[in-house]
Amino acid sequence: RTFKRQMMCRRDIDSFSVPFLSIYESLIPPEEEKLKQNQLLGLLEKLVCKEWPMARLYLYGSCASSFGVSKSDIDVCLAIQDADVDKSKIIMKLADILQSDNLQNVQALTRARVPIVKLMDPVTGISCDICINNLLAVVNTKLLRDYANIDPRLRQLAFIIKHWAKSRGVNETYHGTLSSYAYVLMCVHFLQQQRPAILPCLQGMNPTYSVRVDNVDCAFFDQVEKLGHFGRHNKDTIAHLVWGFFFYWAYCHDYANSVISVRTGSTISKRDKDWTRRIGNDRHLICIEDPFETSHDLGRVVDKRSIKVLREEFERAADIMQYDPNPCIKLFEPY
Ligand code: GTP
Ligand code: MG
Repeated sequence: RTFKRQMMCRRDIDSFSVPFLSIYESLIPPEEEKLKQNQLLGLLEKLVCKEWPMARLYLYGSCASSFGVSKSDIDVCLAIQDADVDKSKIIMKLADILQSDNLQNVQALTRARVPIVKLMDPVTGISCDICINNLLAVVNTKLLRDYANIDPRLRQLAFIIKHWAKSRGVNETYHGTLSSYAYVLMCVHFLQQQRPAILPCLQGMNPTYSVRVDNVDCAFFDQVEKLGHFGRHNKDTIAHLVWGFFFYWAYCHDYANSVISVRTGSTISKRDKDWTRRIGNDRHLICIEDPFETSHDLGRVVDKRSIKVLREEFERAADIMQYDPNPCIKLFEPY
């Protein structure tokens, strides 16, 4: 690993940008899909307001952060002001309402870590998860969307990394690998680390947006259109960045001691966070700090077995990017 850490990128790397960009473009949802999502949201709003006139619905997750690939499910948050709402009761009630309006496969998952109602709309063919009062997710979605608007390479990189993770079976939290949200944070972190930097640290700048949600102060600079083209001094192509991303996670990240932190725009030490030993089910084998819930490690799902799988996949991908004649095909080969 020490030897590889000093490795230079192959000389023909930039020639792969065109094929990587066509993969990215093939994953972008068509405009009609956006229209259908909004149509479904409108229907849900109508149904919800009959029962809870003061409630609001927010889109969050990849469909709202611009990191959603074509045919993704949508994530919706039902915000109810009521001080002490019993989430399970609302979930059950909501499932009843939706069921009687012909929505299909309606399921109330009241015992999940985040209780949700799942459904499928037969008119648009879109599936949807609805959670209650998960406003931190709405705010972290805004943060990611604001980052995406700073430099187009973030969205390109994230689509390619998510596509790779799905093809290689390492985007499954119930099998101990990482969520899409975690991969997007890894991309943001990586672009913050480049020199010249491609992304700034929005939470480290003078806040222009500030809300308090679930006792967490969420504040950051959100007037990103005023940044000009922040990353313009860095001319790295998308192929170079894909190579760099895998190289970073294969050979440069210090898994034993470091936590990646989009909040600080840097890494912080595991010792400072007291993430050095296993606590309950949190093993902290790869540490990704949530930008707002800072005690939350998005790598908590990773165990002794899956960290090995993940690191071997990063090494495989880095080696393909370095040596393979056809990286744009080989990278995404099913496992
Ligand atoms: P795809 O559905 O795979 O396209 O990606 P996604 O961006 O929707 O990601 P995912 O389904 O992993 O998560 C949906 C949203 O939930 C994310 O965008 C976050 O806003 C939020 N989220 C996911 N996991 C966590 C978590 O562990 N903590 C918090 N606070 N929010 C989370
Ligand atoms: Mg989602």
